Amino acid sequence: MRSQQDGAGGLRHLVTLDGLARDALTAILDRAESYRRFPGQPAYEGRELAGVTVANLFFEPSTRTRASFDLASRRLGAHVINLDLQSSSRAKGETMLDTIYTLEAMNTDVFVIRDSEAGLPEFLIDHVAPHVSVISAGEAHLSHPTQGLLDALTIRSHKRRFAGLKVAIVGDIRHSRVARSASQVLSTLGTTDLRLIGPQSLLPPEDEFRGAQRFTRIEDGIAGADVVMMLRIQKERMAQAAALDDAAYFREYGLDAKRLRLASPSVLIMHPGPMNRGVEIESAVADGPRSVIREQVNNGVAVRMAVLAAIAATLTRHRRPL
Ligand code: NCD
Repeated sequence: MRSQQDGAGGLRHLVTLDGLARDALTAILDRAESYRRFPGQPAYEGRELAGVTVANLFFEPSTRTRASFDLASRRLGAHVINLDLQSSSRAKGETMLDTIYTLEAMNTDVFVIRDSEAGLPEFLIDHVAPHVSVISAGEAHLSHPTQGLLDALTIRSHKRRFAGLKVAIVGDIRHSRVARSASQVLSTLGTTDLRLIGPQSLLPPEDEFRGAQRFTRIEDGIAGADVVMMLRIQKERMAQAAALDDAAYFREYGLDAKRLRLASPSVLIMHPGPMNRGVEIESAVADGPRSVIREQVNNGVAVRMAVLAAIAATLTRHRRPL
């Protein structure tokens, strides 16, 4: 894959957090913090994306991530087109290139891509024009970079540090791009105590998440945790989805008030959404005082604004003169 940064270190594309340095990540989080407005405050409105056209190309259903990219783009003055695409064919790359070139001919500058299969974002990076950028909004089980950034921002806002934190991720880690991106950003920013918790069949292969501890009993893994990130069981990514019974899963791995007491008293409860209440998390916990789940959503818009603004600033350097 070509580099995500240009020669001057400016952000050109964002398809993975793997390999982005601490300074680059911190710069995005700082910028996001400046854009963040809390519910009830007027949203930030800027012109950072004036004259920029953003195309959201979603091959997978998405509510929050798509709405979040859409709002982030518009609040900075971009033009936005949203396309829901259906294709699972192996020839998607070729068809996609035609779509991309067509939209490029209409002066599209940024492509935001979500796909259940791996490889499309990198493929497009290798083919787009020098003044065009690609952002992944979720790639298979591999990567969800803006989710990782919004998770990091949420943790930073409350804990003011990453080093020394005990972070537990619970659930379907094997199929989770959220867990992969979170572990990448957190480890670059200094978190060393990462615990992966789930049934053996949902823990990732041994050669992934190096340095993380693995637990099959939630009680063992969340003891003393500063952050507990709950994940959805992603049946759509499983071969035999029927094998998992919701009630049994809740009994073994569901986060309820009793288990929550094992974590640090100042624990943050996170979930990327969509939540299955009563399956991985009890409603009282999801809506309770330790939950920052809606803050994550709020931070998501700010982070996407920051990524888009950073990319737009880089793109201006690569544009053709009038
Ligand atoms: C996640 C995703 O799609 O990767 N959700 C999201 O982006 N808000 C997690 C999930 O689908 O479980």
